[in-house]
Amino acid sequence: MTKVTLNTAMTNDEQLRRQLGEMRRSYGDIGLIEANLPDNPFTLFRQWLAEASANAHIVEPNAMVLSTSDLTSRTVLLKDLTEAGFSFFTNYNSRKAQAIEKDLRVSLLFPWYVMERQVIITGQAKRLSENLSDQYFATRPYGSQIGAWASTQSEVLASRKELENRVEEYKERFPEGSQVPRPSHWGGFVVTPVSVEFWQGRYSRLHDRIRYSNDENSPNKQDVSRWNRIRLNP
Ligand SMILES: Cc1cc2nc3c(=O)[nH]c(=O)nc-3n(C[C@H](O)[C@H](O)[C@H](O)COP(=O)(O)O)c2cc1C
Repeated sequence: MTKVTLNTAMTNDEQLRRQLGEMRRSYGDIGLIEANLPDNPFTLFRQWLAEASANAHIVEPNAMVLSTSDLTSRTVLLKDLTEAGFSFFTNYNSRKAQAIEKDLRVSLLFPWYVMERQVIITGQAKRLSENLSDQYFATRPYGSQIGAWASTQSEVLASRKELENRVEEYKERFPEGSQVPRPSHWGGFVVTPVSVEFWQGRYSRLHDRIRYSNDENSPNKQDVSRWNRIRLNP
């Protein structure tokens, strides 16, 4: 990325506009060239995530928009990435979890606009093992652990006070410093990708789009290293 020197005579808005303009120029020149791309989309995804994480303009590089079959979308945080897929944590009674229980197909979208990048994943979600959910829950700050007990996510709340009262009740039940157990209604999902599409902005709206998809005809559908790669019109 071009290094931008701050000009104190400019307002913040003007500086931001200038920075984004310069990013557009610099990123417009970096394309997705097949010869340089890995065979496995996980490799490229990890590289882009690392670059997004190193970019000071991106506040939550691991934020992704999860869309479910009930035609709703919401942001969740990517918390693990393995060859099994992309993991996030939530309430198993929430609207999103109920939609997933009905239809496992989901999409995940990483909106790294500042870098003129977007990644769209389609795949199938399934619950993470209890063990993995326990492990992650244990790493959460105390307040978030209590919150997981207190919030009946996606259900109607009569008032803010009702939620705060429940927080106090759970704080008494699980005092700070004690080990807070994971509520059974809270845990992770892992999304195993069927396709992963990388979008890189280019000049004159002639963007690069490269989509990896799991070969439907592959005799070994579990082998996530078997990917087809195609280029799409922008
Ligand atoms: C930046 C950001 C990160 C979020 N991360 C999570 C998350 O990891 N898990 C979660 O359940 N909700 C997360 N949320 C809240 C969700 O977007 C959503 O409001 C909530 O999960 C209820 O969604 P639902 O009613 O469709 O199930 C996040 C919201 C934002 C803006």
